[in-house]
Order: sequence, then C-alpha cells, then structure tokens
Amino acid sequence: MPIIKLDAIDSTNRYLRKLTNEEVVKDYTTVVTKHQTNGRGQMGTIWNSESSKNLTFSVFKDVSKQHIEYPFYISIATSLALIKSLQSFSIPKLSVKWPNDILSEDKKICGILIENVIKQSHITASIIGIGLNINQTQFEGLPKASSLKLLSGRTFYLDEVLDVVLKNLKYYFNILKSQDYSNLKREYEMYLFRKNKPSTFKDAEGCVFSGFIKNVSVSGNLRVLLEDEIIKEYDLKDITLLY
Ligand code: BTN
Repeated sequence: MPIIKLDAIDSTNRYLRKLTNEEVVKDYTTVVTKHQTNGRGQMGTIWNSESSKNLTFSVFKDVSKQHIEYPFYISIATSLALIKSLQSFSIPKLSVKWPNDILSEDKKICGILIENVIKQSHITASIIGIGLNINQTQFEGLPKASSLKLLSGRTFYLDEVLDVVLKNLKYYFNILKSQDYSNLKREYEMYLFRKNKPSTFKDAEGCVFSGFIKNVSVSGNLRVLLEDEIIKEYDLKDITLLY
C-alpha cells in the first residue's frame, strides 16, 4: 500500500481528494505530512498541529465493493482502530467523544475528519483524515488538548505509530467488510465518553439541558436519556456536549 510522504501541504485530506480525481488510487493509500498549512477539522474548523511533532495523515479507503448503508460505521471502525492502537502504547483511560474525538483522561488527543466520495448516490470510498497529537507538549489556548508524550512521558517515533494505526485500520475495516455491525457498534459504545453519566448539552437553538448519554443509533445519532425516561436522538449539528 503506497505511503506518500510530504514535507508540507495545505491539507492531506484535500491532497488525497485531488489525487482521486486525477488517478486510480489504491486501497489504503496514505498521505502523511510533517506540516499542514491549512489543516481542516470537523464542522469547518481549523486543525493546528506543531510541525514534525504529530501525525497528520489521510488514508484512502475503497468501499466500492461494499454496500455501506450507514456511513457512521466508517467512523466507528476508524475510532476503534485508534483506540486499539493507543492501547498498544499503554495510553490511559481512552474514550470516544461522539462522534469521533479520541480522548485520554478526558483530554482530546486525536481528531478524525472523514470525507466520503459519493458516486451515483453510493459511497465508493472514504478519505479518512487523522490528526494525532504525539510529541507536542504545549497547546496554547486549548486546555482540553493533550498528546501521547504528555500522557506517557515518552517520546514516540511517528512512523512506528503510523504503522500501528494503519494495521488496526485494516483490522477494523475487515470487520466492517464482514458486516459484523452489531459487534462494531457494541465495542464503540463501550468507549463512549460520559456514557450513563449526567451531562450538560446545548441544542441548535442554544438551549442548555441535561441528560444521560445512552448509546448511538445505526445512523450515528447520539441517544440521550432525558427527563421522564424519554430517549431522544440528536444529529451532530443539533447538539453540543458542554460537560
Ligand atoms: C477534528 O476537528 O477533530 C478533526 C481533525 C482532523 C485533522 C486531520 S489532520 C490530517 C487530515 N487533514 C486535514 O486537513 N484534516 C485531517
């Protein structure tokens, strides 16, 4: 599987997307860079990462031979691959903040941006962008961010971590291919941040309310237990977890 290493690029997701428009890209083709000049985060945010200290990479996953009914399972497989990788480096107290922020000791260490390639209303491929904080130790203005080094005291080889993540992506995407959806969802829910704990949310209208995160729906909505035993489903754009 090709690994394209770049010194600097605006965004590895954007680079890989452009490549798919220009040539046939092999499954698991990976683009990794030391420095992103315009890294992209979820919901139109910016992903900043100190040059050469962290992993910023994107993986092309061909799913054209599969019928992906629920795209959220791509997010589940990716999140689990990261959790399994980080466990192998003994990173403590890992969780997934819905939909796919990876936390350790309640601090964000990894962000995932998945962009699907859709042809004739079917997902044919996904561009899986991963920003994993590794050896960076200062996160100015980001009190909820951390890195593997801050959590473990160790300095990591970026290539070694990348190898492990790619191996685990293959492992979980093979499970997805075998259509073992219920086990994937069950495993994901095991790591759900603040599951069954009282939490405060803000809805799209700015109203603050509390509830208990229970699980996720097959389409990836967050299911929250509210007053009077009512469980309500929320889409990503409809809810923010405050604490
Ligand atoms: C988030 O907002 O949490 C998602 C961040 C995703 C960042 C990664 S870094 C590599 C890839 N290229 C991008 O431009 N973004 C993703």
